[in-house]
Amino acid sequence: MENDKGSMYGPSYFELNTGAKIPSVGLGTWKAAPGVVGEAVIAAVKAGYRHIDCARVYGNEKEIGMALKELFSTGVVKRSEIWITSKLWCNDHAPEDVSKGLSKTLEDLQLDYVDLYLMHWPFRTKPGSSGFNPEVMVPLCLPETWSAMEGLFASGQARAIGVSNFSTKKLEKLLGYAKVPPSVNQVECHPGWQQPSLHNLCKSTGIHLSAYSPLGSPGSWLKGETLKEPTIIEIAEKLNKSPAQVALRWGIQNGHSVLPKSVNESRLKENISLFDWCIPQDLFSEFSKIHQKRLLRGEFVVHETCSPYKSLEELWDGEI
Ligand code: A2P
Repeated sequence: MENDKGSMYGPSYFELNTGAKIPSVGLGTWKAAPGVVGEAVIAAVKAGYRHIDCARVYGNEKEIGMALKELFSTGVVKRSEIWITSKLWCNDHAPEDVSKGLSKTLEDLQLDYVDLYLMHWPFRTKPGSSGFNPEVMVPLCLPETWSAMEGLFASGQARAIGVSNFSTKKLEKLLGYAKVPPSVNQVECHPGWQQPSLHNLCKSTGIHLSAYSPLGSPGSWLKGETLKEPTIIEIAEKLNKSPAQVALRWGIQNGHSVLPKSVNESRLKENISLFDWCIPQDLFSEFSKIHQKRLLRGEFVVHETCSPYKSLEELWDGEI
């Protein structure tokens, strides 16, 4: 992978509204179990990845931190050459807890800054709690939480800030009160869940869309079937690529960074071999045929009385 310049087939990074360059492929670490994730991070960086997507709630930042330390101390990569994203968990939304949330992440990752820090969900739970049981749900304070995120940006501990799992409407609202606009909205996005209205809003407001589950999460509890879509299989056969590569290349050609998770060395390599070919326009338009289905629906944050979201309709503002 080229890390600082594009190729005739498109960029290996995208420029954020801060001017920073986010590598277009990042290693997803959600669902990468402790005990395995460290090796995966090392293998990925050795294979050319320069972007690791983390989150406090994934429960594996300590191990990722040890892997990064090893990569830095053995000279495989310098801190300045790798992009690290992490996310504020819902139990740290109280403005006075936001910087503590990032401090815990920085301590575990053994870093003094992250390249990007995201508000993980537009949802808030009690400090110190875990999960989304009705008894831990507390009212939202999104403007105050965002203001504290802006403080982290000003301090330099988060070199860019953004959100995750925000619908088009929630992102528009945030733009209404943000002094520092978000650089990124990280959401589920793959050929089986293309998010056209969110894509358009992001494009028109200069917010970068970063795609989690870009393969449609095959083999996980989400039971995604995107890679089995006949349209994707046909295109893959025509281009002599794998369905996974076609799904990822589709994301990059749409201007999205993609965050495929893998703990398998050969799939890690496959998932980054995306920069010496492209999907031609006639095949690209075929993606509009693919059946659309959100996989991570977020039922766990919906509750009739305790949650700010009484229904999935309210959580996603109709984008379900
Ligand atoms: P594994 O970690 O064993 O490689 P997503 O990033 O969309 O959530 O998808 C992650 C899932 O896809 C994981 O189960 C991962 O398994 C699997 N996966 C990763 N890369 C590929 C690939 N190139 N082909 C098929 N499955 C893949």
